[in-house]
Amino acid sequence: MNNPEEKLIVALDYSCWEDAEKLVKMIPEAKYFKVGLELYLASKGSAVRKLRELGKEVFLDLKFHDIPNTVAKACCQATTQGATIFNIHASGGREMMSKAVQATKETSEKQGIPRPLLIAVTVLTSFDEDGFKEIGMNNIEQSVINFVRLAEEIGIDGVVASPKEVKIIRENCQPGFKIICPGVRPVWAATNDQKRITTPGKAISLGADYLVVGRPITSAADPRKAALKVLEEIKEAK
Ligand code: C5P
Repeated sequence: MNNPEEKLIVALDYSCWEDAEKLVKMIPEAKYFKVGLELYLASKGSAVRKLRELGKEVFLDLKFHDIPNTVAKACCQATTQGATIFNIHASGGREMMSKAVQATKETSEKQGIPRPLLIAVTVLTSFDEDGFKEIGMNNIEQSVINFVRLAEEIGIDGVVASPKEVKIIRENCQPGFKIICPGVRPVWAATNDQKRITTPGKAISLGADYLVVGRPITSAADPRKAALKVLEEIKEAK
């Protein structure tokens, strides 16, 4: 049975907390919200705590990528601040990901709080093959598979992926490995700048665990109505 409110993450891409808060309060049915770099910086980091105080779950999308020790320290902070889910770049490699897993586990155990889901970004979906080659890399799909296998082996909980990659990822990971999909557009919404899009129902059918949806909800004339439509579509997905 699909539990739609456990699968929808509304992206709060706002430049001030007040606008984000207004949206959150408009949609009591939504449980998960994404805080990215813009809102995190604009709110001076307080958006995570404030969302927790409103009883919401938080996907902290800051995509850590640095030397292992620095990323481990950032993971301690993300855990302490109450993120439910947060992410790092898989391209930081084995040692960086291992230290991140260890730091997240130790911090949550020490503080007696639930361990956040630690998610890896594989290849940014803004890359095409030409852009990937330009930085000395080759074959996006194979790289995604390599990152997925390495991340899973190390104990990372899942990955962020475009809906177009879900099938191939599912074929290369264990069933419990989580897949978070942005780039989701209901048929009634504008595509905006998203190119490789899929509907919420299709993304769930392909095997996505969480959908990140921003503008189809946040820019809608009636955000609550839009969110309810997305939740309904997730519920109906086969
Ligand atoms: O408004 P929209 O639904 O396009 O927002 C999608 C959210 O997911 C944004 O916060 C965007 O930064 C994020 N995202 C994305 N594509 C990726 C990774 C993240 O759109 N590949």
